[in-house]
Amino acid sequence: MKLGTPLSPSAVRVMLLGSGELGKEVVIALQRLGVEVIAVDRYPNAPGHQVAHRAHVIPMTDGAALRALIEQERPHLVVPEIEAIATDTLLEIETEGLAEVIPTARAAKLTMNREGIRRLAAEELGLPTSPYKFADSLAELQAAIDGGIGYPCVVKPVMSSSGKGQSTVKGPEDVAKAWDYAAAGGRVNQGRVIVEGFVDFDYEITQLTVRACDASGSVQTYFCEPIGHVQVGGDYVESWQPQPMSPAALAKSREIAAAVTGNLGGRGIFGVELFIKGDQVWFSEVSPRPHDTGLVTLCSQRFSEFELHARAILGLPVDTALREPGASAVIYGGMEAAGVAFEGVAEALAVPRTDLRLFGKPEAFKKRRMGVAVSNGASVEEARELAKLAAGKVRVVAG
Ligand SMILES: Nc1ncnc2c1ncn2[C@@H]1O[C@H](COP(=O)(O)OP(=O)(O)OP(=O)(O)O)[C@@H](O)[C@H]1O
Ligand SMILES: [Mg+2]
Repeated sequence: MKLGTPLSPSAVRVMLLGSGELGKEVVIALQRLGVEVIAVDRYPNAPGHQVAHRAHVIPMTDGAALRALIEQERPHLVVPEIEAIATDTLLEIETEGLAEVIPTARAAKLTMNREGIRRLAAEELGLPTSPYKFADSLAELQAAIDGGIGYPCVVKPVMSSSGKGQSTVKGPEDVAKAWDYAAAGGRVNQGRVIVEGFVDFDYEITQLTVRACDASGSVQTYFCEPIGHVQVGGDYVESWQPQPMSPAALAKSREIAAAVTGNLGGRGIFGVELFIKGDQVWFSEVSPRPHDTGLVTLCSQRFSEFELHARAILGLPVDTALREPGASAVIYGGMEAAGVAFEGVAEALAVPRTDLRLFGKPEAFKKRRMGVAVSNGASVEEARELAKLAAGKVRVVAG
């Protein structure tokens, strides 16, 4: 692909579907390469809107609205940054050749529903996963648990992210509550859940995997160093890179990541989520886009996951090298208010080897991610201490 001049007929135009904090960093990376960027989200002034050439607000699950916008803007590339999108419309757009969908429309469709990606990984590719069943009612859920999944287990709506509607079921007394919580927390298609056997892992990782062109123009698979992270209530609070792993577990992780990303195809970065116990590895899920735990790469890699994504989707070569150990720590809203302010930023930035991202979200919620601290250290342990220290110094206050 020949890069042109933004806002001129030679421009390469990229449309982001979803313009949160991850999309914002992708927009910035694309802007630096002189790409014309159109940012789309379901609410105005989303983080990515604020740094794009043009911003649009549409319900991205509305296929007609999505098609109309793509026909109006005529982007070369359509880049999903969230899961909740009318993916059947993306399939049509791709088939018609109206735009290229990153990495592929099929990848976007399969990963927006836990059932699609789980059946592909476990049943078609034969990858190790937790035991699982799908259920459409409380009775079916109970039968699935009694029929072999057992306790403890994890119940999740088939369409949800960031831990929404997800709960761990310890015994029979928790089942009805987990069903109700999943039904309320699902994005669409309320009332279908996956129930997974609980994997008693030692640690979990995100294996960032990039499908990008080499010098001859053929697509190769590149791996970043593994990212370790801590999840609370299904949402990430801390991540670091590199996560120490046994050579066997690392090799197995990359084998699984290559298999699943190879099947999904296309170009771009993928976040492959894996559970590790000793040398054993389980596939959990995959994002065909930058991963939230990968925010750490803003400081730990020569090129962040966002820069790698930008390069890969444009058909450019990538370099996934680690620069030095790093860590990220999330800053939550802690309150419900619009137009909040941040105190303690100077103190946070006085922490050695530390940087901040404040996402510019127009509204804070208690558990909404509003920013992140990223720190380097001689070791991952040191980086984690610095990032947590810095994040803790930032206070969200009423504007
Ligand atoms: N079967 C399981 N056994 C043990 N822990 C699990 C299991 N499934 C999920 N978890 C825990 O819950 C976290 C979130 O689960 P999962 O990634 O499936 O949900 P999600 O809503 O897609 O989250 P996100 O969008 O933040 O990745 C996992 O990272 C892991 O810590
Ligand atoms: Mg996950």
